[in-house]
Order: sequence, then C-alpha cells, then structure tokens
Amino acid sequence: MQPITDSKVVLVTGGTRGIGRAICLKLASLGHTVVFTYITNEALAQSLVEEINAMTHAPVMAYRCDMTKLPEVQKLFKEIKAAFKRVDAVVNNAGILGDGKPFMMSPDADWWHVFQTNVSSVTNTCRAVLATMISQRKGRIINITSLSGQKGNPGQSAYSASKSAIVTFSRSLYKEVGQFGITVNCVSPGLIETDMTKELSEDYFSSRMSKTPLKRKGTPEEVANVVSYLICEAPTYMIGQELTIDGGIGG
Ligand SMILES: NC(=O)c1ccc[n+]([C@@H]2O[C@H](COP(=O)([O-])OP(=O)(O)OC[C@H]3O[C@@H](n4cnc5c(N)ncnc54)[C@H](OP(=O)(O)O)[C@@H]3O)[C@@H](O)[C@H]2O)c1
Repeated sequence: MQPITDSKVVLVTGGTRGIGRAICLKLASLGHTVVFTYITNEALAQSLVEEINAMTHAPVMAYRCDMTKLPEVQKLFKEIKAAFKRVDAVVNNAGILGDGKPFMMSPDADWWHVFQTNVSSVTNTCRAVLATMISQRKGRIINITSLSGQKGNPGQSAYSASKSAIVTFSRSLYKEVGQFGITVNCVSPGLIETDMTKELSEDYFSSRMSKTPLKRKGTPEEVANVVSYLICEAPTYMIGQELTIDGGIGG
C-alpha cells in the first residue's frame, strides 16, 4: 500500500474488540498511524497489531492502559508524543455496559462503577491531550456515545446516564476549545453486533428488531466508517454534533 500524504496519528481507546477494533482496522487501511488501548486482552491486542502490520506499513502501537486512571492516561500520551510528536485525533471508544440489573436492584457501587468508567475514560483523555491539540491548533475528538443515552433503556440506567453525560460534556467542551481548531463530536450507535450485545436476551433483541425497518443489528464496520469520516473528511465547521447510526431503531 502507498503511504498517504496526510497520514494522521490517532488514539483509539478500547481497540481490541468490537467497534474499537473495526475503527483501528479502517484507519490503518487508510494508512493512518493507529495507537490503541486495551485493558485485559493482550492476545487480542497482539493479533490486531499483526493484522494491521500485514495490511500496511503505517505504524501501529498497542498499550495496556486503564482509561479510568488519569496518571496511566497521561503516561500514554507522553509516549505517543515521544514516538510520533503529535496527536491528530482521539476516539474515545472504551466503555462498559454493566450487568443489566434494574436500578433498584443494582448495588450503588456497581451503578457508579459503570457511570464513572464510561465518563472518566473520556474526560481523562481530553484532560491529557488538549494542551497538545491546542498547541498544534488542530485536533479531532470523537466520543462514542449510544442511542441508550438519548432514549434510556431498562437495566441500563447507569450506562444511559453516562452516555448522555458524555454528550453534554462534549457540547460544553467544543465551546471552550473550538476556537483552537479542535472539533469535538459524538457518534451514537444503536444495536451493533459485538461482545457487548452478545449477552442481551433474545426478547430484548426481538423487541428492538421490530422497531427497525432494516431488521438487523449494525456492524462495527458501519460505525467505523462514520468515525473515519469525522476524522478524515468532515469539515471543521462540523462541531459539537452527535451522529446517530442505528438503522432507524431510535426513530
Ligand atoms: N455494541 C453496541 O451495540 C453499542 C451500542 C452503542 C454504543 N456502544 C459503545 O461503543 C463502544 C464500544 O462498544 P463495543 O460493543 O465494541 O464493546 P466491547 O466489544 O465490549 O469492547 C470494549 C472495548 O473496550 C475496552 N475497555 C473496556 N474498559 C476499558 C478501560 N477501562 N480501559 C481501556 N480499555 C477498556 C476493552 O478492552 P479488553 O478487550 O482488554 O477488555 C474492549 O477493547 C462503547 O463505548 C459502547 O458503549 C456500543
């Protein structure tokens, strides 16, 4: 593959599986430098590095990094800067769904664990990268939210609340940093075929499928195409948006 002239350095959090993995593969296939994080699954991280290396000469790096821990995230960005001198885009994809218990049956600590994991994974990268993006006078931040954050879902109160918090955080942030050439946008998937949705019950699926004209789940690759558009093609005038990709389920 020919190296591209406008090769970007992109961090994708939670790159080993599902939507994050598809985003890494899409960006690498376009010749961009991909740095991705994971938390547990080293074997999958290694297999993704090998898959990308077989596809492109663009560098790829995998980091075990718990995105909820600010010092780890700050160290990660130091290493990215040391290796590549800049950070063009961050895709805040890492997130957890929780155990699906109704709010009243969900222990307080578990509820806050889901909320805190999802929100702090986003705020930590922003805290750690914004000074770099401001000095570059450019940068793109894409936060993966969820249709659940727009509509709410039973058994997902912490998850839904965390995702709508990320949307309003993003809308506030772009008003602070847009003047420095930084865009902040969200991508809000509906029901996508990944490990996260594997555990959901058949009843849940059939009730959701009855609401979509397409009668199918989305694929991680479809979400990756939207993220890639926001990083590589979207005008900088497009800022503070939440793009929904849900096959019409949310309609
Ligand atoms: N799937 C859907 O239908 C759907 C719908 C709407 C929104 N989303 C959102 O899309 C994003 C990706 O979802 P997915 O379905 O692809 O999830 P997934 O298959 O469960 O993968 C989650 C990824 O996040 C990583 N991760 C989790 N916690 C982390 C942490 N603290 N630090 C670093 N990495 C961490 C995991 O790493 P390990 O492999 O090491 O565990 C894994 O790579 C999430 O934000 C999710 O809320 C998904």
